[in-house]
Amino acid sequence: MTAHTENQPVKLPTLPLVDQELLDRAWAAAARQNAEYAPGERESLRARIKQLLQEQDAVLVAHYYTSDDLQQLAEETGGMVADSLEMARFGHEHPASTLIVAGVRFMGETAKILNPEKKVLMPDVEATCSLDLECPAELFTEFCDAHPDYTSVVYANTSAAVKARADWVVTSGIALPIIKYLASRDEKILWAPDRHLGSYVQRETGVEMLIWPGSCVVHEQFKAEGIRGLKKKYPYAQILVHPESPAEVIALADVVGSTTGLITATLNPAVQEFIVATEPGIFYKMRQASPGKTFLEAPSGGVGGSCESCQRCPWMAMNGLRSLVQVLESGAHEITIDEEIRQKSLIPIQRMMDFARNHQPVLKDSGNV
Ligand code: 13P
Ligand code: SF4
Repeated sequence: MTAHTENQPVKLPTLPLVDQELLDRAWAAAARQNAEYAPGERESLRARIKQLLQEQDAVLVAHYYTSDDLQQLAEETGGMVADSLEMARFGHEHPASTLIVAGVRFMGETAKILNPEKKVLMPDVEATCSLDLECPAELFTEFCDAHPDYTSVVYANTSAAVKARADWVVTSGIALPIIKYLASRDEKILWAPDRHLGSYVQRETGVEMLIWPGSCVVHEQFKAEGIRGLKKKYPYAQILVHPESPAEVIALADVVGSTTGLITATLNPAVQEFIVATEPGIFYKMRQASPGKTFLEAPSGGVGGSCESCQRCPWMAMNGLRSLVQVLESGAHEITIDEEIRQKSLIPIQRMMDFARNHQPVLKDSGNV
């Protein structure tokens, strides 16, 4: 694959494959977590988790894509359900000595980078992300070395080692304002790893960008043709799209936004129906905020969008009540990070968090990515 700068074509790296075998393994682990509960099992797991969280001075921070059970538990126990930026902020500011991060590995790593003195546990440390897998640190370092005059900006969905080599880290909630800011300083951007979010930001800002060819296995599957078909059935529905989706899907969107941006969009009192192109775990919060409204999963997979319910992230689905109890009881699945890498990766993360603090009004007003 090649990209073009103003002067010359640039050879992009060949990525390691996120193959079917890897996805099958994640789905098998997810199936074990989500297997039907015996009578009373769910209630006793929930009660045990609440007791263990208290005993261990631990707080549960869950991503919007985790199961309803985990989101509900986080809310009931004084924890938080949030997007990746807010998860990082909350974990950093909360006084608990142990953070339980229900999400995918990069979220646990970000928590540890920001809180070296805290214990960070995850229900399953094997829960990863295709974007993280498709951006190995050695390849990324080579790419940066080959383009020293570019400012490197990496999406939060990357390993600590990749972040350690980057100038900036961004989440989808803050990518656009940060790239606009860098563009105002005439900086050229080397962007990794999500090519769809990268292209979206490039289209919105017009800045010169070299874009890594990674993608999210979930969002890449949304199909414009299927969404158009659904829109015919629900002509008054608004189309909400996460920017990890392909350009032709983004082109259909009424609102393009991070997970928080999309939830905020559903609060619009003038709209009752939404077609949502992101992981359906987000419906828990959307339904909670607007109980009477209709939320439809955007068609995904197959030619033209024949698959109606295959939008789940296999790695997010690996988080469950069963693994959470095991982790709290055993202290297993702790996140550790080499101290040199931690210190280096903290710099671009801190840059993002400082930027977010100083640009609060922009983020609130736009409701956009
Ligand atoms: P947010 O940063 O919007 O929470 O998204 C994280 C993610 O993994 C999206 O697929
Ligand atoms: Fe990664 Fe996509 Fe899963 Fe988000 S939904 S964690 S980007 S694989």
